[in-house]
Amino acid sequence: PGQRKKWVVGNWKMHGRLADNEALLRALASGAGACSGIRVGVCVPTPYLAQVEAALSGTPFAWGVQDVSAYTHGAYTGEVAAEMTLEFGATLAIVGHSERRAYHGEHSELVAAKAQRALQAGLTPIVCVGETLEERESGATQAVVGAQIDALLAKLSVDETARVVIAYEPVWAIGTGRTATTDQAQEVHAFLRARLLGKHAVLASVPLLYGGSVKPENAAALFSQADIDGGLIGGASLKSQDFLAICAAA
Ligand code: G3P
Repeated sequence: PGQRKKWVVGNWKMHGRLADNEALLRALASGAGACSGIRVGVCVPTPYLAQVEAALSGTPFAWGVQDVSAYTHGAYTGEVAAEMTLEFGATLAIVGHSERRAYHGEHSELVAAKAQRALQAGLTPIVCVGETLEERESGATQAVVGAQIDALLAKLSVDETARVVIAYEPVWAIGTGRTATTDQAQEVHAFLRARLLGKHAVLASVPLLYGGSVKPENAAALFSQADIDGGLIGGASLKSQDFLAICAAA
């Protein structure tokens, strides 16, 4: 355990314009000193992959996408194949973000298939899990995230699972400014860790990121928890100073 590297990954969501991206990426590239010893990356809207590749090549930053198709090339209108992102140097793919689960009807079996497809193509999937406020308040948090993680474990081999990153993002903490307390986050991370270890001891090395209103002010406390290996950052990843401060806290 103590050997796991910290990760900080930005999720731009559906934000960005060429000119704004240019300024943000330039600031990240020149602030890369904040990232020594950790894994850092940004997951961007697909049309900007070429721009990001040009700006971040040769920096510590990895990049990738926010979703990927469960299929290989073929007649799947509107989908983006993992291999296409590789042509732009991508190494990361978020899958199963709660916004995709909620607004695009993605269920855990599809999310597991996307994660497997990403792995087969050579991408590192960042698989998101998390409960809604209603689910938390009714005491169903472990049942919900447990079922989400079990669907992944049912689909992937141990070797495959050892190559994923998991992000715990309580839905009620996303974009709300309401962060999970360090105890709330650690409790779920410990639960997820135990679930992974229940499958195989090698899964102790799977990075478990926390996402949901991570800011420069709360990052260090969250990242110091035993089972929190870094963060998946939404809003604060669009501001270079904030994002770099979060990297420095990791
Ligand atoms: O994937 C990151 C995310 O959902 C958290 O968003 O804006 O609360 O940091 P935010």
